[in-house]
Amino acid sequence: MHLLIKDLILEEINKEGKIPFFEFMRMALYHPEYGYYNSEKERVGKQGDYYTSPAVHRMFGELIAKQLEEMWMIMGKELFTVVEMGANRGWLCHDIIQSVVHEYPEFYSNFHYIIVESNPYAREKQRSLLESLEGTEEKVSWHTYTEDGFSFDKIRGCFLSNEFVDALPVHRLKMKNKVLKETYVGYNGVNFCEIDDAVSVPALQKYLETNKISLEEDQVCEVNLGAADWLRHVSEKLDKGFIITIDYGDTRDGLYHENMREGTLRCYYDHTFNRDYFEQLGEQDITAHVDFTNLINAGKAVQLEVTGFIKQSHFLIALGILERLHDARHDTGTILKLKNLLHPEAMGEVFKVLIQHKNIENPQLASLRPLQSITMSNS
Ligand SMILES: C[S@@+](CC[C@H](N)C(=O)[O-])C[C@H]1O[C@@H](n2cnc3c(N)ncnc32)[C@H](O)[C@@H]1O
Repeated sequence: MHLLIKDLILEEINKEGKIPFFEFMRMALYHPEYGYYNSEKERVGKQGDYYTSPAVHRMFGELIAKQLEEMWMIMGKELFTVVEMGANRGWLCHDIIQSVVHEYPEFYSNFHYIIVESNPYAREKQRSLLESLEGTEEKVSWHTYTEDGFSFDKIRGCFLSNEFVDALPVHRLKMKNKVLKETYVGYNGVNFCEIDDAVSVPALQKYLETNKISLEEDQVCEVNLGAADWLRHVSEKLDKGFIITIDYGDTRDGLYHENMREGTLRCYYDHTFNRDYFEQLGEQDITAHVDFTNLINAGKAVQLEVTGFIKQSHFLIALGILERLHDARHDTGTILKLKNLLHPEAMGEVFKVLIQHKNIENPQLASLRPLQSITMSNS
């Protein structure tokens, strides 16, 4: 266990006797110096703790570029800004820009890319990766997102995120003797321990009501209040355009059934998962599935309408991944990587894509069309 971060958390616990799990997770992931997401540690890819789709193959970014170009056309070919949340090494940004430069030059001349990144090490890595693409200094800028919102003015274009929402700290709730309780973190003299007590903020009870979640006895659930705050800030800055949110999770019905009674919180370290939240602090990821019903409801409350909600495999197939797979049929390495993006037991089904829009009348997107309508020649 990282001694320093443990001491800092202990200090907080000692002040009040316990802290909400949310606060514990926030410090473990986002402490400015020792948090998992603010350190220099390699998190994604072979040397990291888990893979994300942009780390699997550049085709993921290329297909998103295709979707962005269609959005730009629907919006009348005006200046289009892409805002990417938490870009890690910058792979997705790199692959999108490379594809836009080569495949959609007219779009590129009306294109700007904002990376929202607070980790200084990640910013450096993103900058040096993007240096390999000529002319990106004028096309890419860096900004931050805090609880007060974004550090840029209103934009027209698309907010894009891959595995951002699942990395936000969550509160944990549990039904005990028919009373709703919240999980706190205390210290038993040897290690951290869980304590169930009254809910810390009324917004948690409201979350369950708004999203129509009723917990059974002993059932646990995670509540991501930050996701709704984020969408509110997105809507404040989005004059007109789309939001593409790619993440693992499901709607309420898929998340709160009998087999998920213990919640979805997990830690990832060196490509294995565990539920030892109090171990390897600052060294392992802590993450919960995204409740897309919450994103849909929270979006509607701030003028973000649902364009569509699909599985990642649907999104990629509708954008033409099978045709590209056919072109790469002699390249076994590429085929195996793309299989990971599509396979139901890999990233194809647990990952979902939610597209929302604002100030656009009934947009029709290629990625959302029914798969039955797709033939190899028109994908
Ligand atoms: C699981 S990683 C995803 C990385 C990347 N999108 C990918 O697909 O490889 C989650 C990212 O969200 C970022 N994040 C969380 N809160 C953030 C904030 N307030 N501002 C910017 N990035 C944030 C983290 O720093 C981290 O890079």
